Amino acid sequence: MSNIISYEERLKNFSWKAAEEELEYKEGNVINIGWYCSDRICNMGKADKTALIWENMAGVERKYSYNDLRLTTNTVGNFLRELGIKNEDRVCLFMDKIPELYIGLLGVLKIGAIAQPLFSAFGDESLFVRLDNAETTAVITQKKHAPKIRKIMNRLPNLKHLIIVDHDPAKPLGPGEVVLDLHTMPWVDELEIFPTKAESPSVLHYTSGTTGQPKGVKHVHYSLISQYLTTKWVLDIQDDDIYWCTADPGWVTGTSYGIIGGFATGATSCVMDVGFSADAWYKFIEKHKVTMWYSAPTAIRSLMKAGADVVKKYKLTSLRHLASVGEPLNSEAVVWSEKVFGKAFHDTYWQTETGSIMICNFPGMKIKPGSMGKPFPGIEACVLDTETFEPLTESGKIGLIGFKPGWPAMMRTYWRNEATYQNKFKNGWYLPGDRSSIDNEGYYWFVGRDDDVINTGGHLVSPFEVESALLENEMVAESAVVSKPDDINMEVVKAFVTLNPGFEGNKDTELIIMNFIRKKLSPLAMPQEIEFVPNLPKTRSGKIMRRILKAKEWGEEIGDTSTLEDD
Ligand code: WTA
Repeated sequence: MSNIISYEERLKNFSWKAAEEELEYKEGNVINIGWYCSDRICNMGKADKTALIWENMAGVERKYSYNDLRLTTNTVGNFLRELGIKNEDRVCLFMDKIPELYIGLLGVLKIGAIAQPLFSAFGDESLFVRLDNAETTAVITQKKHAPKIRKIMNRLPNLKHLIIVDHDPAKPLGPGEVVLDLHTMPWVDELEIFPTKAESPSVLHYTSGTTGQPKGVKHVHYSLISQYLTTKWVLDIQDDDIYWCTADPGWVTGTSYGIIGGFATGATSCVMDVGFSADAWYKFIEKHKVTMWYSAPTAIRSLMKAGADVVKKYKLTSLRHLASVGEPLNSEAVVWSEKVFGKAFHDTYWQTETGSIMICNFPGMKIKPGSMGKPFPGIEACVLDTETFEPLTESGKIGLIGFKPGWPAMMRTYWRNEATYQNKFKNGWYLPGDRSSIDNEGYYWFVGRDDDVINTGGHLVSPFEVESALLENEMVAESAVVSKPDDINMEVVKAFVTLNPGFEGNKDTELIIMNFIRKKLSPLAMPQEIEFVPNLPKTRSGKIMRRILKAKEWGEEIGDTSTLEDD
């Protein structure tokens, strides 16, 4: 049962110390997320409690108790240490949503190494830039994904180990390849946990920006404080909850809440390694009696499309609380969920860089469908004037979201890119790069991003990355990548291309170019359409103006183009 304490009550005398005390952490002491997510729960007398329920496409189910989680993460930690992996070495986790991914990440953290999760659908070039930038020492992966790493390994001098979790013993291993098979090896009881401190690095997540290569967002072990508290207070996770976070740990929601939050609170987490289908999802909720469901607007819109009749086929009465993240949650989706599940999805807003939920519809708070809610207690937020970066006081006015730095899960820097990190601050505020307004009751209303990054189905795509892939094709002279509207994914990727002389823009050309970039990009970043144009709109200095192309796609006013920007 929920024992919700109101938002107003939570705001009173708020201090992050509340979480520190619950976690028995004192400033200056050791704090290790891997230990908190497994050993500590066992020490609390919950060793036999189910930590993880996992199910795949074939209906195979596996369960891990908190003691299993402790032992398997110890085993991973021990294995890595014996390989020579040291604290702060980067270890990439490149796997589907299999138990080894969840266990592997905590094992890496236990020895003080930095976990670098990467989405398993990435192509080899996307992988290369991220592993190259992080100077990653080891990659833990499945045999089905290993070929992508093998292909780039010789260009990555720092990458010493390719660790395969499901190697077929009949097959030979290549140079640098080793096997870590938790199904066949004995589990290790004792592991000396590395004494990480609050500021020791923990997770390195790559996120896309408008310009330049993806940036590595560096988090630290102290992030646990806000991840733990928001999991309890916003996702309302309690001891007896069966919690399903649908996000992939290749992205921040899948780690902050799909791994860390769920295990640190000692709840039972469920993972389904199956693509989307309304029937499969509802069946999963029914079978495992999911009580708390954290998902994303694109999935919710897909469920809406599947219709209310499918819902009726399943008994979903276990559901107690629903929340959403990643993109704007349209009011229709909130109203619909209330109608069909008897529970409204609670929107939450945050990003890779913030590490934990920043603005949310707190449990028990009045929901205004379409609004992101209010700042989490302890988060000082505002919207800022776009020129002066002073907080706007007038309600309803649109400005840039600003957060006062200092909450525990805030990123500490962009990996090897301190200058870009510093650029995210203006006038003492951290700017996540989104625009919003605040109404007269303090509710935030998302307006849009303040840059050209495309949010397709909750996944951020850098136009730069797609344009770079396109430009590598010999036919392509220039390209500009923007978003276009889409019913389910809210926005999808569209490319405008000019061709080199001698090439003709037709369906065959489109197909050849699509196949060419498919190898370089994640499926999520793939354009839905390539439009061939004779030329692209540019500033006087020659910079391509995506803004104009985007406005056309969205049927918006293009604005004044007589004085093209000069930068
Ligand atoms: C967008 C995902 C509207 C926003 C946790 C943000 C949202 C970016 C919401 C972060 C929301 C996230 N409403 N937009 N509730 N949540 N966004 O880094 O533009 O993958 O900056 O982190 O997604 O995406 P990221």
